[in-house]
Amino acid sequence: MKSQYFQIAADGVDPKKVPQRTLFTGAKIPGVGLGTFGSDHYDARDIANAVKDAISVGYRHIDCASVYGNEHLIGESLHEAMRCGIKREELFITSKLWNNMHGNGDVLLSCAKTLKDLKLEYLDLYLVHWPFPNYHAAGVGVDSRDPNAVAYIHDNYMKTWRQMERLVDAGLVRHIGTSNMTIAKLELVLRDVRIHPAANEMELHPHFQQDALFRYCLDNNIVPIGYCPVGSPKRPARDRTQNDTVDTEDPVIVSIADRLGVHPAIVCIKWAVQRGQIPIPFSTNRNHILGNLLCSTIDPLTHEEMKAIEGIDRNCRLIKGQVFLWEGAKDWTDLWDINGVIEEN
Ligand SMILES: NC(=O)c1ccc[n+]([C@@H]2O[C@H](COP(=O)([O-])OP(=O)(O)OC[C@H]3O[C@@H](n4cnc5c(N)ncnc54)[C@H](OP(=O)(O)O)[C@@H]3O)[C@@H](O)[C@H]2O)c1
Repeated sequence: MKSQYFQIAADGVDPKKVPQRTLFTGAKIPGVGLGTFGSDHYDARDIANAVKDAISVGYRHIDCASVYGNEHLIGESLHEAMRCGIKREELFITSKLWNNMHGNGDVLLSCAKTLKDLKLEYLDLYLVHWPFPNYHAAGVGVDSRDPNAVAYIHDNYMKTWRQMERLVDAGLVRHIGTSNMTIAKLELVLRDVRIHPAANEMELHPHFQQDALFRYCLDNNIVPIGYCPVGSPKRPARDRTQNDTVDTEDPVIVSIADRLGVHPAIVCIKWAVQRGQIPIPFSTNRNHILGNLLCSTIDPLTHEEMKAIEGIDRNCRLIKGQVFLWEGAKDWTDLWDINGVIEEN
């Protein structure tokens, strides 16, 4: 049965026109995806509807995670899309292993639950969401701590990675990848993997460009996927501090937006695509969803505009990850190996 809904909407974007990136296997990944984290205040049903809207306007890449608590509803949207004629192989679906499922036994269980919820037989990409097994429940405040939290332990990460590799062997997952990593941690992981990480999901927006890690990923055949691409204006309270800056209010971004007659969010997304990362903007607003994809296909930023945005990096990390800190850690910078050395317990 075909439904009008999943034919490309009249104002939609031909998925073939959206820039594609190539993973180390040669597989293609659409250069813009839809984020699905509701920042603890968007309704899960609205997010599942956003997935339907996104597919109907031409998105083929959806970024999911078990901890977002909405995969069972997104699965209904994906199922409906495929029932109505979208082929599975046209879609690129990512999910992530949550922190409390690291280790030997739980990776397969976790992946199986995600596949069941998403109503899929395989994932295109499965990421280790954070390099720590430190748990937090949805909606917690900035002072919440897992009493069992630990610093990065490479042997333990590799135990989890071995299970991720087995998912590829079993055909449940096409690619595996990392998220919230640093160069120091990736160096160890690349030394020890059997199956290469295809992508690293990392915070990337004009005020947080992570140039060294971004380049490291490209140099090592790891596709950088950029989260919070428009500066996550509705991020949870635990991820806000007084010193945070606002990308969409930056005069450089605003003046380019004025030239193009678009919202500053669109400039952030265009910059991301042209720089070479894959932005995964979240939205439940159909016009925003459409605009965020369409902008990757028209009106490129000029060389001067790209240079100007390169110059406004504020090194302003928004998702600091305080809730993952272990007893004895100094502060959130310990999670990010600022001096190139992995912090230990
Ligand atoms: N791997 C990780 O650890 C990790 C961490 C954080 C996020 N992520 C992923 O990255 C995705 C994106 O990050 P995010 O959701 O935090 O932040 P984001 O995409 O930077 O910002 C989303 C917000 O921007 C607004 N917005 C989007 N497009 C807009 C437009 N064209 N005009 C005006 N406003 C616009 C949305 O509001 P409206 O709904 O009103 O449009 C929404 O509130 C997440 O959903 C998740 O999938 C991954």
